[in-house]
Amino acid sequence: MLILAIETSCDETAAAVIENGRTVRSSVISSQIEKHARYGGVIPELAAREHILNINWVVEQAIQDAGIEQNQLDAVAVTSHPGLMPALAVGVSFAKGLAATLNIPVIGINHFLGHIYGAFLETPDLLTQSDTFPIISLVVSGGHTALVLVNEDGTTQLLGQTIDDAAGEAYDKAAKLLNLGYPGGPILDRLAKEGDKTLYKFPRALCGEGGKAVKDDLLYHFSFSGVKTSLLYKVKEIAHAKPGTPTELPIEKEADYLSDDEIKDLVASYQEAIVDVLIRKVSLAIRNFGAKTAVICGGVACNSRLREVFQQSMDQLKVHPVIAPAKYCTDNAAMIGGLAWHYAKHDLTASMDLDIKSRIGVLPNLPIYKGTQA
Ligand code: KG4
Ligand code: ZN
Repeated sequence: MLILAIETSCDETAAAVIENGRTVRSSVISSQIEKHARYGGVIPELAAREHILNINWVVEQAIQDAGIEQNQLDAVAVTSHPGLMPALAVGVSFAKGLAATLNIPVIGINHFLGHIYGAFLETPDLLTQSDTFPIISLVVSGGHTALVLVNEDGTTQLLGQTIDDAAGEAYDKAAKLLNLGYPGGPILDRLAKEGDKTLYKFPRALCGEGGKAVKDDLLYHFSFSGVKTSLLYKVKEIAHAKPGTPTELPIEKEADYLSDDEIKDLVASYQEAIVDVLIRKVSLAIRNFGAKTAVICGGVACNSRLREVFQQSMDQLKVHPVIAPAKYCTDNAAMIGGLAWHYAKHDLTASMDLDIKSRIGVLPNLPIYKGTQA
């Protein structure tokens, strides 16, 4: 079964052709990073416009790279939620039009569950083994930070998510504050390697640090706005401790008074606080739900320090770690098309009424069954 998948939930226009949920025949990604860089974040209307301009060639390229004709396709899958509404609308409208033209079903896919499936794209057999479950999955990207429980029968539960900024946003906003460029994640990842991660102490929110009790309903939730504010104050403190720094400075100028070494130490300590919180929450969920497998996926799962600490912590907890391959961490359509095959096999296709949603709400269950045959 050949599925064409389309992903336009944020700032990547992506299309892929996937065979039987596991063979990636093609994967094309057109990134808009440069268009959004000057704003230090993704502008929804600008993203939608770029999707409109690029979707046609991206889809054509995916079909051509797969070495097929479009009439060989069995279904069109598309990310329908969550995401930026104007951006999702482009992909979903295009998918419906193509499905109608080819007279094949359209399948709406949850972007979150797509990210989780992406972690298994190169090892799909793990999803057919009982001892893989339950799975605790950390989805960390520019738009989301969430902990998801996946059981063997496909039932899923959104255990918690961020109550303010996403982890990727914490990276991007820090990079903006320090005038380092966009997106911040890869830049901070690189600079942190040269800094002292123990030099500055940044807060770890909702972790019960210092004996502070965390309310039950916030146990698996995240908050990254405090650490970002704390960075801002630390930058000010360092800058203004130097003779000659003007007393009144616009925020974006403060970092100009920091040395390269100070920036590297700040970035390393800041990253350590983010990674620490993520790992603490994953570990807590693993223990409380008796998970056998832990997954990290989404753009921030590319982070080298997170990957390192995750691997070490999972070894200690004796849990199987699944780290999404870097090419399936950031947004792509292969993960959407892989998961869509399971929906198709169980006739869980959508109608032309397929809607878009900006938020996740309740997560749908995954149609991943051990018996699913190609
Ligand atoms: O999954 P993704 O491509 O898009 C969303 O769904 O948001 O994730 C993009 C996010 C950005 O915030 C980017 O800064 C972050 O992932 N990111 C990283 C790294 N590479 C990308 N964050 C930390 N370390 C990295 N190496
Ligand atoms: Zn994503």
